[in-house]
Amino acid sequence: MIDQETVNRIIDRADIAEVVQDFVNLKRRGVNFLGLCPFHGEKSPSFTVSPSKGIYKCFGCGKAGNAVGFVMEHEQLTYPEALKYLARKYQIDVKEEEVTAEQIEQKNHRESMLIVTSVAQKYFSNILNNDKEGKAVGLSYFKERGFTHETIEKFQLGYSTENRTAFTDYALKNGYKLEYLTSTGLSIDKNDYRFDRFAGRVMFPIHALAGNPIAFGGRILKKDEKTAKYLNSPESEIYHKSDVLYGIYFAKKEIVKQDKCYMVEGYTDVISMHQAGIENVVASSGTSLTENQIRLVKRFTDNLTILYDGDAAGIKASFRGIDLVLEQGMNVKVVLFPNGEDPDSFSKKMSKRELKEFIDENENDFIRFKTSLLLEDAQNDPVKKAGLISNIVRSIGIIPDPIIRSVYIKECSTLLNVQEDALYAEINRIMFQKREVDRKKQFVDSQQQIKQIQSTPLPGFINEVYAETNEKEVISFLIKFGELELFEEPGEDAFSTHSVSVAEYIIKEILNDDLEFKNLIFKQIFEDYTKHFQKGEIPDNKYFINHTDEKIRTLAANIFTENYKPSAIWTKGGKKIETPDKTLKVDVPRAINSYKINILQQAIVAKDEQLKKVLPDEIVLTDEIIKQKQILTEAKLKLFGETNRSIN
Ligand code: CTP
Ligand code: MN
Repeated sequence: MIDQETVNRIIDRADIAEVVQDFVNLKRRGVNFLGLCPFHGEKSPSFTVSPSKGIYKCFGCGKAGNAVGFVMEHEQLTYPEALKYLARKYQIDVKEEEVTAEQIEQKNHRESMLIVTSVAQKYFSNILNNDKEGKAVGLSYFKERGFTHETIEKFQLGYSTENRTAFTDYALKNGYKLEYLTSTGLSIDKNDYRFDRFAGRVMFPIHALAGNPIAFGGRILKKDEKTAKYLNSPESEIYHKSDVLYGIYFAKKEIVKQDKCYMVEGYTDVISMHQAGIENVVASSGTSLTENQIRLVKRFTDNLTILYDGDAAGIKASFRGIDLVLEQGMNVKVVLFPNGEDPDSFSKKMSKRELKEFIDENENDFIRFKTSLLLEDAQNDPVKKAGLISNIVRSIGIIPDPIIRSVYIKECSTLLNVQEDALYAEINRIMFQKREVDRKKQFVDSQQQIKQIQSTPLPGFINEVYAETNEKEVISFLIKFGELELFEEPGEDAFSTHSVSVAEYIIKEILNDDLEFKNLIFKQIFEDYTKHFQKGEIPDNKYFINHTDEKIRTLAANIFTENYKPSAIWTKGGKKIETPDKTLKVDVPRAINSYKINILQQAIVAKDEQLKKVLPDEIVLTDEIIKQKQILTEAKLKLFGETNRSIN
């Protein structure tokens, strides 16, 4: 338990902008800061931080709070964990009131696991630095490896004694429940014999993004063929191996500063690089990269450089994981270390400056690197070479940016001595397969959500208003022309197209913006239609005209008897086009845009009204309203632009 006085000191000291800036790139806007909201996906920033008020607020998703709340929300921490995080950040000593076993029992399971893990970290560090065996065995091992005292402190390294029950006994004696000792994997309970998982190992705590330990890697010191060199904490409620990168807490600041992240293989590589002054480095811990790990890096930078030791088999095994990185649109480079060296061993053979120079000079583009490495193998074997080509093409094909793709195609055409056309054909073939798989997946997803932005989305903070004429226009297009093709849009890649019907377009637009028809009959029609659509059916004319609901029948009858008056569109030759299959292309998006513009216009008027009512000293509030008004106005202008474009 943290005493109230300390809590107050932490809250007073925490600067909201500084706290948020560790996770979100903020830009100054007058007295406030503005950035992309970390809690919901958005393209234009509506996440505001007000240092004077000590609060953040997202006008998109509505999340708001103070610095502690931000850390809790962002890092998924409990209140005391968030306070401790801030205390660490601002170097405030936390005087914890004695935690009794009883108090722990009251806390929830997860938090108890975190506490026990943190207790274990302190225990192992204490053994390393103060215990006779710890110093003689553990500490001298780290010293031998060249780790300085500061490094050992910083990474909170520790030692677990040979005595198989030392930690478990200590923890049980101090009132920590066996339940949490076993669920964190620190202790093993076999037929009522309780013992330590990590006996006789040096301990590397693994830290969450917020800096608290959540797991351990323990390295055995003896050369023993039978036992694994590293033993790791098992998967648990607090430790999901595939979501974690070793060192991310210590690296994140420098990753942002350098706009680059180095990826190495192991614990010792991270630690040695830090000691050599390169701090933007994390480890995948010897396994293939996962999507969540990549997303974790992508929060801080788009540039990833993988540092390989010289083991060719290991490098080739990693290629699949790297395709995931490319797929996220990240820029991937590689540095190959000389044979037999890893970043840990290599960094010890040279000065800090030489190490940095080596890395900078040997940084290679990933695709180029992969191509030449595989080419060495294939040499003059045509079958191998064909395999190599489709392998490389697969990596290129998943890069989201078509311009970058075409640069690689050109380059690989030269490197592989294959015509560009042939490479494009191969890409096409692979992408087709991939698309088929995606399409099946997408069908399942579409039951829950239909997502695809066509027209500018509305700001999320908007209050919808009554726009009956617009609602009616949209519903009319939906039930009268739903099944007609509206346009073709590019498919997953540059080589395919996807036909979008009037119904698909309208439904996606409405759902995308979370628009809700205020007229209850329109609302019911829309929901009914969407339900059918998501099952792959399109209700025909008769469906609504013969609907069970009398009001819907009447309305449908009216709609079907009204004539559709198409916009006048002329061809280049001056001929007027009036067939719906052509004019709908213009009229349906325009109906959607007019609907949104109407909503925006009324919201802008409401903001003006609000501004009139704000008191002169409510600067932050004024600022917020003005900002919102600006966002609304920008969206309106964009929509106007899109409407005009579609007419031309
Ligand atoms: N690893 C693991 N379990 C193993 C072997 C390796 O979890 N049995 C992970 C560890 O995170 C380790 C990384 O894979 O740090 C790289 O393995 P390796 O290169 O064998 O270890 P090093 O980090 O080089 O460790 P050391 O220098 O202490 O041998
Ligand atoms: Mn090593």
